[in-house]
Amino acid sequence: MSFPPAFLDQLRSRLSIAETVGRRVRLVKRGREHTGLCPFHNEKSPSFTVSEDKGFFHCFGCGAHGDIIGFVMRSENLSFPETVERLAAEAGMEVPRMAPGDREKAARYTGLAGVMDLAAKWFEGQLSSRAGAAARDYVQRRGLTAETVARFRLGLAPNSRTALKEALLARDVTEAQMVECGLLIKPEDGGQTYDRFRDRLMFPIADRRGRIVAFGGRALGDAPAKYLNSPETELFHKGRMLYNHALAREAAPGAGTVVVAEGYMDVIALAQAGFAHAVAPLGTALTEEQMGELWRLAAEPILCFDGDSAGFRAALRAAERCLPLLKPGRSFRFALLPDGKDPDDLIRDKGRGAMATVLDQAIPLAGLLWRTATEGKPLDTPERRAGLKQDLEQTAANIADPDVREHYQREFRNRLQQLFQPQRSAAAPFRPGFGGGVPGKGGRRWQPGPPPGMPLPSAGAASEDRRERLLLVGLLRYPELLDRHEEEVAGLTFRSRELDSLRRAILQAASRSEGLDAATLARHLTEAGLADTVARLAGPNVRYQERFAQPGSDWQAIEAGWVRALAPFRRKALERDLEEAKADISNAGFKRLQAIRKQLEEFSRAAAELSPEDDLAAPPAAVTTPPSSR
Ligand code: UTP
Ligand code: MN
Repeated sequence: MSFPPAFLDQLRSRLSIAETVGRRVRLVKRGREHTGLCPFHNEKSPSFTVSEDKGFFHCFGCGAHGDIIGFVMRSENLSFPETVERLAAEAGMEVPRMAPGDREKAARYTGLAGVMDLAAKWFEGQLSSRAGAAARDYVQRRGLTAETVARFRLGLAPNSRTALKEALLARDVTEAQMVECGLLIKPEDGGQTYDRFRDRLMFPIADRRGRIVAFGGRALGDAPAKYLNSPETELFHKGRMLYNHALAREAAPGAGTVVVAEGYMDVIALAQAGFAHAVAPLGTALTEEQMGELWRLAAEPILCFDGDSAGFRAALRAAERCLPLLKPGRSFRFALLPDGKDPDDLIRDKGRGAMATVLDQAIPLAGLLWRTATEGKPLDTPERRAGLKQDLEQTAANIADPDVREHYQREFRNRLQQLFQPQRSAAAPFRPGFGGGVPGKGGRRWQPGPPPGMPLPSAGAASEDRRERLLLVGLLRYPELLDRHEEEVAGLTFRSRELDSLRRAILQAASRSEGLDAATLARHLTEAGLADTVARLAGPNVRYQERFAQPGSDWQAIEAGWVRALAPFRRKALERDLEEAKADISNAGFKRLQAIRKQLEEFSRAAAELSPEDDLAAPPAAVTTPPSSR
């Protein structure tokens, strides 16, 4: 607030400083000066003087010094403009009317938001001052550019109990205002107020309109709390606000969504990487009010969580909390970051592309709920399956909107059906020597992999049995396959006990003789009492449509075909690993889970590319030709 200097001079000359001071302090005239006990510190003998001629007061004890305006400000705890108004009234003077721009400025700087803005400016100044060198270093180490620092108005609260207080007092902010803003802490015991934020990197927190209403401070040295936030004030309600709300509000329509991270540094790193549509809650889990604010920005905000078990639990809590608030078209998506990283780490380590991928792969709420309900839970008994069904029904029941609820119920029912179906067919009895089916007719292809979070259905027993037989026939006809694939064969377990003992016998034979050929292998197996099994599988009357299982094919086709036949078994092994990893909620377990998922997805993709001729999921294709029909 500024007043014309001439007006202020007139004000000072019209009033007597000795008279004004004399109302608060008992003064004794000594020559041209007045002396008394200083009102600004405790003293027994007078060291406080007032000079009417010079228009100043001065204390030789505590160093307090100033003119009539300064005296009233300090003793009455008023701001500069308030003091001027008061003294002008006393002097019978009219305060000059200000230009409209001045008035606006005054309103800004007298309100609490004005004080916060002033504080932000001062913190910014500290960061760019000489004393801010170490903090600037820190900011640079964390990869923030000068532009970003300026855009987010980062600042430094120096390691002092009074630096901010003194600086703002000098700018006519009162102690009471600073306490009200949460910038000063006022001790219960009536002691001196002191700066709340000390030795911290300062993040100004603005409201939706961009007014600074609070600060977050990150410890630079060792402080018990890594982050310290402003307390709740008239301006600041942490459960209702979002960090970076004002900037994100501008960017969200263009981006088509808004990204919610957990921390201030994440939001800043995201914005610097081009995701300006990022916000964060203020040190708490997302509240319902914040969810409401998010839906005003986008229909499906993406919630990012650290990809560790704590992050997963946080995602789950958010998911549960939003159920009653869902409306048609209004939901959340969930992005789980890899390796326990936060967005800031991910962007620094892997670049913005990696972050974009994570956001692209965010899973819908329904997928997250499904995954949580099914993961790591054995569903091998009717009771357990019924239990899962009940859990999902209860989850859906929390959705208040009837339309959305109904669609969730339907979605869960469908998924359950898919999940339980394959386990029914898995119970099909073993049928030796089966035949029939439609060998490779038309493009019956592998289904593309189920969405992440959906357990992969295991293939029916019949086709599995057929694949086991195919692999063995390949080995019986071309034992050379073992040269390169012995390890993999050793890692298998066949469902059929008969076929599994043949598998083990083949491995044993291979370990006994180098460069095993088909005839030698057959001899070994006969010695092991498996002649019948071998005859049934690979006798001269048994034909297979797969080329690798036919005598006399070229080696490359044989090996490639056999390896393809092996793929589903490797996939099954991965599924077993997946089950184990699901049960492990540690960081490492989660990491493994993601790695396994990725491999499985690759399998599904590769399988989908197989030509119909190679279609191994087709119904049994082995054709047993009776001797008579030859
Ligand atoms: P994090 O501990 O995940 O920190 O807290 P961060 O954001 O990754 O920060 P850097 O990378 O270590 O600097 C996430 C958020 O939780 C709140 C803050 O809002 C922070 O941004 N928080 C954290 C607190 O309020 N107090 C704390 O002591 C810690
Ligand atoms: Mn971080």
